[in-house]
Amino acid sequence: MTGRILVIDDDEAILHSCKTILEDEGHEVKVAAGAAEALGALREKSFDLALIDLRLPGTDGLEILERAVAIDPDLVVIIFTAYGTIESAVEATKRGAFNYLTKPFTAGQLVAVVAKALDYSRLLRDNVRLRHELKQCCSVHQIVGHSAPLEMVLGLVAKVAASDANVLITGESGTGKELIARALHANSARSSGPFVDVDCAALPSTMLESELFGHEKGAFTGADHAKRGLLELANGGTVFLDEIGDLSSELQAKLLRTIQERTFRHLGGERLLHVDIRIVSSTNRDLQAEAQQGRFRHDLLYRLDVVHIALPALRDRPGDVALLVQYFLQEFSRSAGKPRIGVAPEALSLLERYQWPGNVRELRNAIERAVVLCEGHTVRTRDLPSYIREQAQLGKRIHAALGYKAAREQWVESQGKAYLTTLLTQHRGNISAAAREAQISRKSFYELLHRFSLDASQFHS
Ligand SMILES: Nc1ncnc2c1ncn2[C@@H]1O[C@H](COP(=O)(O)OP(=O)(O)OP(=O)(O)O)[C@@H](O)[C@H]1O
Ligand SMILES: [Mg+2]
Repeated sequence: MTGRILVIDDDEAILHSCKTILEDEGHEVKVAAGAAEALGALREKSFDLALIDLRLPGTDGLEILERAVAIDPDLVVIIFTAYGTIESAVEATKRGAFNYLTKPFTAGQLVAVVAKALDYSRLLRDNVRLRHELKQCCSVHQIVGHSAPLEMVLGLVAKVAASDANVLITGESGTGKELIARALHANSARSSGPFVDVDCAALPSTMLESELFGHEKGAFTGADHAKRGLLELANGGTVFLDEIGDLSSELQAKLLRTIQERTFRHLGGERLLHVDIRIVSSTNRDLQAEAQQGRFRHDLLYRLDVVHIALPALRDRPGDVALLVQYFLQEFSRSAGKPRIGVAPEALSLLERYQWPGNVRELRNAIERAVVLCEGHTVRTRDLPSYIREQAQLGKRIHAALGYKAAREQWVESQGKAYLTTLLTQHRGNISAAAREAQISRKSFYELLHRFSLDASQFHS
């Protein structure tokens, strides 16, 4: 890859040799003998890379580094140092220089370090583009993504947030149900009121009852003082009933009454208390099916599910992975104190192909780990957990496993359908392209589609 390079040094001989060597490699090179000239050049046009001498008469190289980066925050910088000034070079990398080169250096060393820096610069610019998209996309409460399925959800959130309708959010674990619940609250007229989060799966039924409804002193053994319930504390705001499918039948009945009458009593209490709450609930179960089997009350479901928001699994919107990666990279590079970490294209492509059974939460964890492990400024394939690297290569594995019929069969049985669905989504129903990626013949691909009752035409768009 060639690039636009600025070389800043007071030594004419260095400037001359850098220019000759780098131009021979096809780069566009400008040289500057001092700070003023260099900064002027940077203001005038954009460079991919600057090579800066640490010792310049009248100015400190570090100062030029800082001013150059202030002009173009995505400029990649290499520092020239002489023997004995390594410490300042290390200081320079802390302040954002990509690398340093100790004088005297050979043409080979210069060419190699420049090639690496330009690779990084390209990566940085790709990541900058993604960061820019990121800024534009997540206007609704830090919910990142621009895929069609997510846009639909966000449209619905914007539409129903302002109303007082109860909302049921469904979706697999880690798809962002709680995030959506908070967004609904934040964009509602109740946003200045409380948002009370109740995990219905965390407590045994009797404890949950007293948490929700509160109790009077002496209502049960151990109730040595009166306590207000969470429903009361949420007055004027939103209650988020997480894992609503775990609510016992007694509590289902009691909650139904509260919703219908907008009143309830403390445990052991007489007084009727009025509440004004909006209920947002969530579940990763199929409550319609549970209601049919008599495990969840129809009438309660009907009251909770006035508006239904179904969150798509991450594997059904691979187009959001790049933005989410960028978002979490920013979050974790900030907290790890590492500057501007980017992701290498091969690593991103693995992440886009992975199935994400744990959805966005799993992706977030993978990026947190990668930021800690990665060396330098880039997350690479080797920084990702091995199971991600392996699963993303499954297409290749089907191929490799052909000789091991039993292993192949087992894999196809457990993961085949999800894998085919992802491939078809990515390739918009194009069988040739999908089969090529899976490294199997079109004929075998058709057989698999038939086996899982999948219809490629449904993925055309
Ligand atoms: N679209 C998104 N943009 C940014 N962050 C997201 C997005 N979706 C989910 N997350 C993040 O992923 C993590 C999991 O999200 P959340 O807790 O809302 O999932 P959940 O559906 O409630 O999961 P569970 O069913 O396991 O409770 C959180 O850290 C959340 O901030
Ligand atoms: Mg949750």
